[in-house]
Amino acid sequence: MAEYDKAALIRAAFSARERAYAPYSRFKVGAALLAKNGQVFTGCNIENAAYGPTNCAERTALFKAVSEGVREFAAIAVVGSREGEVNTLVTGPCGVCRQALYEFGGPGLAVLMARTETDYIETTLGALLPYGFGPQNLTE
Ligand code: THU
Repeated sequence: MAEYDKAALIRAAFSARERAYAPYSRFKVGAALLAKNGQVFTGCNIENAAYGPTNCAERTALFKAVSEGVREFAAIAVVGSREGEVNTLVTGPCGVCRQALYEFGGPGLAVLMARTETDYIETTLGALLPYGFGPQNLTE
């Protein structure tokens, strides 16, 4: 997928963030994952009183997509900030999410870490997870 509407993908991440369930950290995250077929899967973080079962926004989006039969992805937008606050830092996918995304997105997945629709860092999963361990390691 060469071109896509980055502002629209970031907007989708912001709207998913509204649905974050984050009563413990109060840090709300939204993600929007663009599949190569053009579909967009959104996700938010879903926390848990036992803390450990918490699911990040990125993995919520990824697992929604894969469970719907979609496995090829072009880009993901991620936005996060404390409830009611505007962040100066961008929210980068955590290490677990980088690994989970690598399984399907590979190093070429575009990652947009956004403060606003127009203010974002654009990188790739390969840059965020160099020498990532993926399916090819087990088959080649
Ligand atoms: N979180 C995400 O959803 N994605 C990230 O990339 C970073 C962290 C969530 C997990 C937890 O609910 C909250 O942010 C604070 O760590």
